[in-house]
Amino acid sequence: MSLSLVKIIEDVFVKEDVRVKKLFSKYLDLLFKWHDINNIVSSSDKDYVIRREIYDSYQLNNYLTGNSYSDIGTGGGIPGVIISILNPDKKVILIDRKSTFIDFLMLAKADLGLNNIEVIHKDVLKLPLRLNTDTVILKNFSNKIISKMNFENKFIYLMRLIKQSKQVSKAYMLTGSPVLELSEECFREFNVSTYVIQSPFFETNRIVAEVKFENTIDS
Ligand SMILES: C[S@@+](CC[C@H](N)C(=O)[O-])C[C@H]1O[C@@H](n2cnc3c(N)ncnc32)[C@H](O)[C@@H]1O
Repeated sequence: MSLSLVKIIEDVFVKEDVRVKKLFSKYLDLLFKWHDINNIVSSSDKDYVIRREIYDSYQLNNYLTGNSYSDIGTGGGIPGVIISILNPDKKVILIDRKSTFIDFLMLAKADLGLNNIEVIHKDVLKLPLRLNTDTVILKNFSNKIISKMNFENKFIYLMRLIKQSKQVSKAYMLTGSPVLELSEECFREFNVSTYVIQSPFFETNRIVAEVKFENTIDS
């Protein structure tokens, strides 16, 4: 493991205990090694990925309620793996449709000994979708259909999709500032609250959108 990786983690997650820092280091070491071959994260710049993607996912954890999480479109496990490390007693299901990610996630789960993780190879747009956790988390979920939509249509499309799983009572999307401009119509359909994550590293802040679903088993 490179010294620079360990140093960035020591710097960024200074308040965390040895177990968390060790697991973050192991996961990120593995993630960047796979990235070199399979291109599985948004950037090759480790410092950027850790301070932006990983730190924001780490902050997302402060807003989560519930006992079980499905991370849809998890890719290389962001934010799901971070959430599973921080919550060893909660179940975290990592879902993606691409086998490259699934292979990596199975390896990471075994290597890190994360027994609270379940990895599922699945296309969530193939209906019916039955997520059996009380909470859904998502960050940068995207594919050819969704990437052509404007932010609000994408948001509504995904929330309608998640809502089909009656066990799910809440969704948390880690996203950008367009979520602050959702229309009245969207607010009439969904009970949305937004929280700004203050980043000590960047001028732009990410937002957590919390959506509470009614008429669900656990709501
Ligand atoms: C831009 S990546 C984001 C990955 C990760 N959440 C992150 O923030 O780094 C989008 C992910 O969504 C996955 N995805 C897209 N459409 C999907 C679908 N229909 N079912 C499951 N996963 C899907 C892709 O395979 C990809 O891993």
